[in-house]
Amino acid sequence: MAETISIRDGSKTEVYEQLLPQVAALMDAGAPSVSNMANMASALKTAFPAFSWVGFYLAHDQELIVGPFQGKPACVRIAAGQGVCGTSFAKRSTVVVPDVHAFPGHIACDPDSRSEIVVPLLDGERCYGVLDVDSNNPDAFDETDAEYLRRMCQLILPFLRKDMLHA
Ligand code: SME
Repeated sequence: MAETISIRDGSKTEVYEQLLPQVAALMDAGAPSVSNMANMASALKTAFPAFSWVGFYLAHDQELIVGPFQGKPACVRIAAGQGVCGTSFAKRSTVVVPDVHAFPGHIACDPDSRSEIVVPLLDGERCYGVLDVDSNNPDAFDETDAEYLRRMCQLILPFLRKDMLHA
């Protein structure tokens, strides 16, 4: 069944290599972005047990508002430039935080979170929001995560563009 995520144990790269085509297959071209972001967040959290929170914050003017996610309840609003998510959004760049306690202004939605990566949903000059992943393990994220999570974001862009056109 297309909704099943099936991952053999392996290195981080091997897990992402298995996951990427399965997430691509989960994307429903006729469904809105919210549906596809929900399944992507679920697939990432299912494939990586070390991920404690996976989800999207979406841009509304200069504010980020929480979108589809998997994990504990999260703060709803983050201003551009605030926290890890707002920093990634304002700078239009991926932010890897090996120790959230050492990041000035980190917003602690979950006190158990130890490290974090945030990837902007970039479409040329436009930034639709961010993909945010947390882990309860310190130093859980590296350039491999950055590379594959950027590829994940590429899968969502067509849906965000389409939503905007029909908004
Ligand atoms: N830690 C984030 C806030 C969002 S939660 O991690 C889900 C930040 O500092 O922006």
